Amino acid sequence: MLNTKMMDLLHIKYPIIQGGMAWVATAELAAAVSEGGGLGIIGAGSAPGEVVRQQIRKAKSLTDKPIGVNAYFLSPFVEEVIQVIIEEKVSVITTGAGNPGKYVPKLKEAGIKIIPVISSVALARRMEKAGVDALIAEGMECGGHTGDLTTMALLPQVVDAVQVPVIAAGGIADGRQLAATLCMGAQGVQMGTRFICAEECIAHENYKNAILKAKDRGTVLTGHNGHYVRVLKNKLTQEYIRLSKEGATPEELEKLGMGRLRAAVIEGDDKMGSLMSGQVAAMVKKIQPAQEILEEVVKEALDVLKGVDVWARGK
Ligand SMILES: Cc1cc2nc3c(=O)[nH]c(=O)nc-3n(C[C@H](O)[C@H](O)[C@H](O)COP(=O)(O)O)c2cc1C
Repeated sequence: MLNTKMMDLLHIKYPIIQGGMAWVATAELAAAVSEGGGLGIIGAGSAPGEVVRQQIRKAKSLTDKPIGVNAYFLSPFVEEVIQVIIEEKVSVITTGAGNPGKYVPKLKEAGIKIIPVISSVALARRMEKAGVDALIAEGMECGGHTGDLTTMALLPQVVDAVQVPVIAAGGIADGRQLAATLCMGAQGVQMGTRFICAEECIAHENYKNAILKAKDRGTVLTGHNGHYVRVLKNKLTQEYIRLSKEGATPEELEKLGMGRLRAAVIEGDDKMGSLMSGQVAAMVKKIQPAQEILEEVVKEALDVLKGVDVWARGK
């Protein structure tokens, strides 16, 4: 059996968190992951507080296990989303694309565990000082918004710099990778891309199929001014790169990206939609229930840690 500080902290059976992905991580996916033994997280993205409240209530109607909400700090609604998280007594908040420092006292008072996503040692230290419960160290292999360090380089440096449990994210899709991060001092992992292909994930089948068809070099970083986003290559990214080379302004590029994630997830636009996905997309082989994903990853990690030769699979 695996037993880590993160599992004790979050009262979960397996050391796996499902990433709080905007549009993709709805109540259905979060509840299925929590029910399956991990921690499911609703991705608030840029949704207003009341939409997030409905999602939380729906998830709670599907499971009585703990669930979390990811508050996205570039959202104009972040303030009201945090208020809703407090009112609805959510167990855990993860935060992305910003510094949740000023909300820590209020969230702690409400008994909510705070786990920011960080991509540098400096921010990890600052967050620990602010009083957070754990940290998600996310490397640039991940889908969506990324930093500029790889998980392999960032994770051990964050583990050495702080006392709170560290959860690894970015580039983790199977048990070998879970085992490797545990060996580097992580207390668990957060996976995003693999859960997009969970049966319970509401993402359009075109989006899921694009991940299933992806090859190792199938993703590309778009973005500017240090704000990078990893997506699967398609017509949208070609257009983005063309406009960048022609000297388009950040505003013009931002306009091109507006509403594109929604178009991919809800409408299934795999050409001009933003198919956010990590570099592990090519490792995702099938659509399967969230619980099966969790069990498969944990079993494989245990085999690796016991020294079973899982690399020989299929050879
Ligand atoms: C479609 C998509 C949307 C995402 N949206 C968010 C978000 O709103 N907030 C956040 O903190 N992270 C977001 N992420 C990052 C994930 O929560 C997770 O950390 C990441 O996917 C882990 O890396 P992996 O894709 O290699 O598994 C998103 C990722 C994807 C693929």
